[in-house]
Amino acid sequence: MELKTIKIEARKEIKRAKNLKELDELFKKYLSKKGEIAQIFKSLKNLSERERKELGRKANSAKREIEEMIRKKSKELQEKLRKQKIEKEKIDVTRPGKKFTTGHLHPLTLVQREVLEIFKSMGFSVVLGPELETEWYNFDALNIPKDHPARDMWDTFWLQGNQKIPNPKSQIPNKSQKNLRLSAEQTNLKSERLLLRTHTSPVQVRYMEKHNPPLRIVVPGRCFRHEATDASHEIQFYQLEGLMVDENVSAANFRAIIEEFLRRFFKQNIEICLRPSYFPFTEPSFEIDIRREKKGKWTELLGAGMVHPKVFEAAGLNPKEWQGFAFGVGLDRLAMLRYKVNDIRLFYSGDLRFLKQF
Ligand code: FA5
Repeated sequence: MELKTIKIEARKEIKRAKNLKELDELFKKYLSKKGEIAQIFKSLKNLSERERKELGRKANSAKREIEEMIRKKSKELQEKLRKQKIEKEKIDVTRPGKKFTTGHLHPLTLVQREVLEIFKSMGFSVVLGPELETEWYNFDALNIPKDHPARDMWDTFWLQGNQKIPNPKSQIPNKSQKNLRLSAEQTNLKSERLLLRTHTSPVQVRYMEKHNPPLRIVVPGRCFRHEATDASHEIQFYQLEGLMVDENVSAANFRAIIEEFLRRFFKQNIEICLRPSYFPFTEPSFEIDIRREKKGKWTELLGAGMVHPKVFEAAGLNPKEWQGFAFGVGLDRLAMLRYKVNDIRLFYSGDLRFLKQF
């Protein structure tokens, strides 16, 4: 290419360059060792001295010109890039914020909290107990001996095998030759089978072992039963246990408390039906069904009764000195009534279409 053409072409191309990469290509094309200007310098050797001087001078000035054009263009492009970046990163402080999607409480949690508030306002303390329970607390201490048919009512999930409750002492390894420590078998610790509790009633005994009456507690918690599920039965569900013990607590006190609770929870007067029933740990025992509308369906809501003397004895209290009532409400049933849910299994389905309604 002739020097004149080189200059014209270079000017045109540099002007057209859209980005730094293209500009870099042009630098290579014109100014690199093998570039167009270098070719001109190479061709000088074939010329006469006068021509060589003349063309050499022109080529040098063309080189500087092209360098200068590229430098300017590069600055221009960089400036453009910077502006684009600023434009892109600009924060519009007047734009409305992004909405956070937060979760919310499960209907059973909502109901449980509300129920606890009502009982707390009536002087009951909230107490918790273990979901993994021993056979003793779930059955024996509640006057349900091993072969009692009432155990069928509370068929449950047992932990594998006949578990020994580990004796902390026998867990220390016996290093010496002499038998300084007795093995778990040798100590007279009760071997206890573990199960998933079928009701919250075991907490009655656990609590009375450690606290003297007068007492008023409620115990919310998850229970488990090995039973066929249907619209009102699940294999896991929530109960709320209530226990009130003093020298003179009667069934009339129970009725008053439970009616007050239901009235506050449903914010209307509720029709209740107290039926005689049977629980090994209460005497007398009753079952309470409720309905909110005349001619509506009765729903079995809770079991209750006067604490059985055997239960006081299991907890180490003298049954001649104390009397009290206990009850166990199904929290799922309360939630079903409150929200008009017709199938308990919906609560545990994890279906967002259901959960989003609360
Ligand atoms: C008991 O569990 C007794 N422990 C209640 C009690 C406590 C009686 C203190 C006397 C003194 P029952 O098995 O009836 O009783 O259950 C009580 C309530 O738990 C029922 O009324 C019902 O609302 C709820 N419930 C029981 N089984 C299920 C289940 N599979 N699914 C959902 N709710 C259940």
